[in-house]
Amino acid sequence: MKKILTFVLVLAFALSAIACAAPAATPAAEAPAAEAAAPAAEPAADAVKTYKVGVCIYKFDDNFMTLYRQELESYLKSLETDTVKYEVTVVDGKGDMAEQTNQVDTFLAQGVDVLIVNLVQSSSAATITDKAKAAGVPVVYINREPSADDMKAWDKICYVGADARQSGTYQGEIIASLPNKGDQNGDGVVSYVMIMGDPENVDAQYRTEFSIKALTDAGIKVEELFKQRGDWAQEKGQELAANALAQFGNKIDVIFCNNDGMALGAYQAIVAAGRTVGKDIYLVGVDALAECVQMVKDGTMTGTVLNDHIGQSHTAVDAAVKYIMGEPVETYLWVDYQKVA
Ligand code: BGC
Repeated sequence: MKKILTFVLVLAFALSAIACAAPAATPAAEAPAAEAAAPAAEPAADAVKTYKVGVCIYKFDDNFMTLYRQELESYLKSLETDTVKYEVTVVDGKGDMAEQTNQVDTFLAQGVDVLIVNLVQSSSAATITDKAKAAGVPVVYINREPSADDMKAWDKICYVGADARQSGTYQGEIIASLPNKGDQNGDGVVSYVMIMGDPENVDAQYRTEFSIKALTDAGIKVEELFKQRGDWAQEKGQELAANALAQFGNKIDVIFCNNDGMALGAYQAIVAAGRTVGKDIYLVGVDALAECVQMVKDGTMTGTVLNDHIGQSHTAVDAAVKYIMGEPVETYLWVDYQKVA
């Protein structure tokens, strides 16, 4: 038995060696038979179309944009078929607009089919649009909304984002719906600390404004004790919250953070100052990072707001693919926020 098996194996090996050594040009008559035996017919090389997608992220070192860009890349890859491939390159703007402008120039020189851009500075949209328009390359702007005027510059640009007014309103409503309406020390006023993202970004401006508006709209008296920019970063959130806590102590009822990254930092400062979230202070953020959702469940954060990176990245990719296919895209594509409290 063993001998027969060895013989079969040797024969199989010998036959496959002969097949590999066979000259490339198979006689025409044999070709159909060889094709029929192939497991899955590969599409002819010229039937496969590869599109180049250039993605510019304002900064890789950002909790939310990291989730966003990872989802964006994997979703785009998931849309590939046997005949349509996407060559996607994602670059880090390192928070430097000059660097990002160079990256756009490089992508355009490489002949990308579409750009997806998370601007370092929203105010630079016009420069980027001009370059892309000159090269005939559509742009999907994401996360940092260009001005309404800048969005009128060309019909092959669009913006995918979430309306930051909504996230601010939800933050305020989370506080307004607490039994004491956020007034932990019972002095009749909600005294708050506001830790802002980069104020050049409308997300920071609107969240700052609309969180407080939701309180005043609910008839709640407010007092701003402290407002400073933490540029979306956890370390800055911690540093600023620590300063505010040292300066205003028990007067602080609520710490509003424009994002969860900074709220995580503020939480460390709250603990270090011996305060307890939910008991003698409230803390809200935006993004619904997994660890913050867990903290809300555990009661160590009062609430957050889901900034849907999955919905936004898929919408951005769908828009980019439409541009590639020559289909029209609406100028604004919005994805809703959701309260997590
Ligand atoms: C997110 C922040 C992020 C920022 C980057 C915002 O929408 O909430 O976490 O840092 O976008 O632009």
